Amino acid sequence: MTTPVRKRILVGVGGGIAAYKACSVIRHYTEAGHDVRVIPTAAALEFVGAATFEALSGHPVSTTVFDNVDEVAHVRLGQEADLVVVAPATADLLARAASGRADDLLTASLLTARCPVLFAPAMHTEMWEHPATRDNVATLRRRGVVVMPPDSGRLTGRDSGAGRLPDPTEIGLLGDLLLDDPEALPFDLSGARIVISAGGTREPLDPVRYLGNHSSGKQGFALARVAAARGADVTVVAGSTSGAGNPAGIELVSIASATELSDEMNKRALEADVIIMAAAVADFRPVVVADAKIKKGTAGPAPIELETNPDILAGLVAARGRGEIPASTVIVGFAAETGDDNGGVLDHGRAKFSRKGCDLLVVNPVGSGKAFGTEDNTGWLLSSAGTETALPLTSKTLLASRILDALAPLLDRS
Ligand code: PMT
Repeated sequence: MTTPVRKRILVGVGGGIAAYKACSVIRHYTEAGHDVRVIPTAAALEFVGAATFEALSGHPVSTTVFDNVDEVAHVRLGQEADLVVVAPATADLLARAASGRADDLLTASLLTARCPVLFAPAMHTEMWEHPATRDNVATLRRRGVVVMPPDSGRLTGRDSGAGRLPDPTEIGLLGDLLLDDPEALPFDLSGARIVISAGGTREPLDPVRYLGNHSSGKQGFALARVAAARGADVTVVAGSTSGAGNPAGIELVSIASATELSDEMNKRALEADVIIMAAAVADFRPVVVADAKIKKGTAGPAPIELETNPDILAGLVAARGRGEIPASTVIVGFAAETGDDNGGVLDHGRAKFSRKGCDLLVVNPVGSGKAFGTEDNTGWLLSSAGTETALPLTSKTLLASRILDALAPLLDRS
């Protein structure tokens, strides 16, 4: 969900090959109606010309504090910004920012900015892993700057590893989150291992058909996006998804059916500090999966006999009770409810909470264009301490942050 108010956004561009991807980040904010000023470093202009940044932002571009001196641009741009996004943030730029240099317009603006600052790093793996860079990133995070984990994959040369610029859409979404709530990305989940199920399961009928549901995975991936930016070590076990994004710095495991999801979650629960079941899991599966495509025939459709899938969430809570997974593991469930003659959404959510026995339950109104596949979400957060908190309609990313706010104090930090 984009913020309707026109905000002032500075996009800083460091001197790396990924500088061309900054164009998509700029586009993300101009398309949302924001006023975007681009401040490249001199090295960034070796990769992308000033004319490109000027055309995309509609403003002149400068790298130095000695242009527009009468407007005191080196102070004013940072002071007036509502958000600063630096993409790509090179090792050199992180170092200069961490040591408080003001040797060009971008670093000077970083010193005068009082708004949220988001860095999206891009560099070679060795540079990202170097103790100097780790220290610089830690320094910036300690000061409240949000430094995204980089993506992993193909780098500039033949090598691949951690250090790719996060997907520009992901940078845009985290920036949107900071515009909605400047406090939404504290670095408070460092070291926490979080396993999140997301998307829908598919229960095969034959080689071409399945029973499925409308989950897009957007809510589960939003949790992953925010948790990773808050420092967690995140694994997403994902069924079918659509338009859920590509959060940087996470491990992604693909499954299809509820049985496969069950196997993965039970295995990964042994190493997790937090388990979040955001996936829409089929309660039933066909008893028989045909080897060949089922024919239409002449007698009309044959009935499909179903059997019950394991209740993964309840099973994980029971395993924790038996001591098979650590007692300190925090378990979070979702309840997708429509309400019916027997009660409203919240009534059914409360009943599900006591049946499942998890620590937190997000009660999600679904159906009629709600929750499944949408960009925003709403509901209630129930806790085993007996609290019930309304979650107003907002972006799935901001809702994810609210859920993680409730979860963070439950983590065993001993
Ligand atoms: O993916 P999106 O398009 O963004 O939509 C998000 C969502 C609506 C799918 C998500 O917010 C949500 O509500 N997920 C839970 C969907 C669901 O399966 O709800 P349920 O009420 O049927 O199940 C309750 C809980 O038990 C859930 O945590 C579910 O993951 C879990 N479950 C359900 C069945 C089963 N056999 N095993 C389970 O573990």
